[in-house]
Parts: sequence; C-alpha cells; structure tokens
Amino acid sequence: MSSTEILEPLSTPWHLRGNWAPVLDERTDTDLRVDGRIPEALDGLYVRTGPNPYSGHSPHWFLGDGMVHGVSLKGGRAEWYRNRFVRTPNITDPLSDPMVGMGDLSRGTGNTHVLAHGGGLMCLEEGHWPWRLDDHLETTGVENYAGALTCSMTAHPKICPVTGELIAFSYFNFEPPHLRYLRVAADGTLTQLEEIDVPNLVMMHDFNVTRNHVVFMDLPVCFDLGQLATGFPFVFKRDAGARLGVMPRNGTNADVRWMDIDPCYVFHPINAHEDGDRLVIHVSRQREAFGTGSNDYAEVARLWRWTIDLNTATVEEQQIDDRPADFGRVDDRLIGLPARYGYLMSLDGEGNAEEPVYGSSLYKYDLTTGECWEHHLGPGVRGAEPVFAPASPDAGEDEGWVISLTHDTGTDRSSLQIIDARDFAGPPVAVVHLPRRVPYGAHGSWVPRGLLA
Ligand SMILES: [Fe+2]
Repeated sequence: MSSTEILEPLSTPWHLRGNWAPVLDERTDTDLRVDGRIPEALDGLYVRTGPNPYSGHSPHWFLGDGMVHGVSLKGGRAEWYRNRFVRTPNITDPLSDPMVGMGDLSRGTGNTHVLAHGGGLMCLEEGHWPWRLDDHLETTGVENYAGALTCSMTAHPKICPVTGELIAFSYFNFEPPHLRYLRVAADGTLTQLEEIDVPNLVMMHDFNVTRNHVVFMDLPVCFDLGQLATGFPFVFKRDAGARLGVMPRNGTNADVRWMDIDPCYVFHPINAHEDGDRLVIHVSRQREAFGTGSNDYAEVARLWRWTIDLNTATVEEQQIDDRPADFGRVDDRLIGLPARYGYLMSLDGEGNAEEPVYGSSLYKYDLTTGECWEHHLGPGVRGAEPVFAPASPDAGEDEGWVISLTHDTGTDRSSLQIIDARDFAGPPVAVVHLPRRVPYGAHGSWVPRGLLA
C-alpha cells in the first residue's frame, strides 16, 4: 500500500485513489537522474496523457481533465520532465455540471492520447475536438481544421507512414447516422468527411487502417440513457450483435461491407495489414466490456487475430495467446503495413470488477508466429503502454527501444524505462527517475524531434 492510499477513505472512487489520484501541480525539472545509459540516438520527446481532474474530483475516470507528462531525451541525457494540464474551457471556464458540456465540441479534455501530426503535438479525447500543444506541452488552441471538422474525432486516429495523412472517425453523434469517417492530409487540410450508417450509437474507441482500407468495429457497447447519471452512458448489449465494416480508404458509406463476428469488445487493435485478398488484424479482444455498468472491468483482453477474406466477406477469428494484455503498439513506421512485432502491456485483476489493473510486465509478440517475450518490470511495479522508438529513420523493425512509464507501488515513485527491443527480456538500458509520481494514464507517443516544427 502506498502512502497516498493510507490517507484516503475507502469511499473515494477508485479513479481518484492510489496512483489513479490526480497530481495538481505543474512542474519542470531538468537533468534527471538516470541509471544506465540513454542511447545517444534517442533525440525527441516521450509524451503521455491521462485523466487528471483539475479540481481533484471527477464523476468518472473518462471525464477527468487531461494532463500531459513529457520527458525530453537528447544527447544521452534526460533533458527535462514537464507535466501540464491541457488548458481547456473545462479548466478556464468550468461548468457546474460537466455533462452539460458534452455537446460542445470545444470542451474536449485531451485526456486519452497525444501524438504528432501536422508539425506539432495533438492531444485527443473521443467526444470532442483535439487540442494543440507546443513542444513544451503548453496548450495553444483547439484543432478543428479551420472549421472543416464539424464533429468529434476519435482519440485513436492513424497516421499513415506512407502518405502522412491522418485517418480517423467520429462516433459520438447522437443523431443518425452516428458514424463519420474523415481524412486529414499531412499539411492539415481536411480532405474527406463522410457519414456512415451504423444501426446503434456504440462506443467505437478505435479502428483499423491498412494501406488501402479501413475497418470499423461496430461492437455492442451501446449508448444507454439509463446510465447517464454514472457519467458514462454505455453498457454491453450482446443481442445488438457485432460487425466489422470494411471500406476503401477513399470510400463512402455505399462502399462499406459489413461482416458479422462473435459479439465481443476491443478497445485497441495492435495493427492491421493486407495480405493479398485478405486483411489481417491483431486486436486485444475481450468477451465483453461494461457488462454490469460503467465501472465494470472484470473482463480483460487477450491477443486475437481477425482475418478478413475480401472475396467471401467473412472473418476468421483466432486467439493467439492466453495472457491478458492490452495497449498494444507497433513501430509507428509500420502502421497499416505488415509489422512483425507488437508490444503490449500485461493486465492483472481479471474478475476484479472495481478498476483496471495495469500489469507488471510488458510483452513483445512476434505477430507472425505468436511467440512472446516478457519484460518483467519488478515486484509491485506497474507498467503503461509501451511505445517504440527506432534507432534511426531507416532502422530495422525492432532496431530501437521500447519506452514505457512505470509506477512502483512500494515506493510510490515513477520512472521511464528504456528497453532494447532486441534484448526485450533483458534489463532496461536506462531508467530515468522522474521527480514525481505520475498517475496511471492512457496513451502516448515517442516523437522524434524532427516531427516537431
Ligand atoms: Fe485507448
């Protein structure tokens, strides 16, 4: 039990307890203490966001204000650590009831993902517009592509490594058609915005992109007004069924081919690619999500492969491993392309309906064979999403490092682990000691310095 947990009453919701509890100060620390050697080739910024309510309280984990934590690596040094709130109207002009702001696209929290596109950082959350940050993590404004984006945008767009375009969707639309599809060119021009028919308003947290196709996931975590008071109005409804929708990347609603699959839930795919007339998708699949309500995390995900036959419009579903794991990533240079290696975070707490439990291991999978290598973070140490940083722009697929935040529940301290991707089970090449506890959060990125204009 950490020191923060000792001081908290048991009535405190799980998302405000222990290392889920927000940190309220913003700080900047330079020349961080490092064990081992930071590779000189790492020149850029590790960034990660997560819910961190400015007031100290939020009605649901998903509704907390975004806070971004960043570590700048340069010349073999950990140049600085910074943490900053995403400065939105929710902080500068708060509403007495945050639910009132759900329909205002400029009230996004930026609490789910942070990545680089269009020469700068973008902080995202799926019910609103993204936010722009500068390379010191200061919020510079909302991003709606000069007014062309007239709906919310997913927190999990894909940046195509071939074209540089951002490929995304929007599901949080109360009036049918509930789904939108959109593309943004590398220069920030919104080039396509299409309405897509889906039968229900479902929580579509992520999707899949290959070189020529996108694949939507219509999975039955359905909008339910009866859950509105919980702050998260969605519940699993198996009878609603589940479908994958395949569409050419430049297609429209008329081009979507829907294919039934077994009802399940997927928060995060790892990657997708084309193999002749087949699309191969690796996902962290769980039997259901939010089955008993908005704080039900009893079900955990495992690595599965979906193989879509474009000729027969059928989907083969195959479990690859039995280890619970999610937050999977590949080398960003291979998004939508055949990637051999996927990096995932283990999950503990299966059957524990109270809160998600980030695991003590990271996994490297050979997605072609199912072989798995484990990096154990240490007893009582909990991980985060692993991201891959290549040794150079043209380095081989696993020629580089896997970077992840960790929290030691024994000491209540956080660190940044840098692991050689080719010696994955070995000790980290460097551990950057962070000057403060970093709460468990959501997603992040390794941003090579050249991607920041
Ligand atoms: Fe996510």
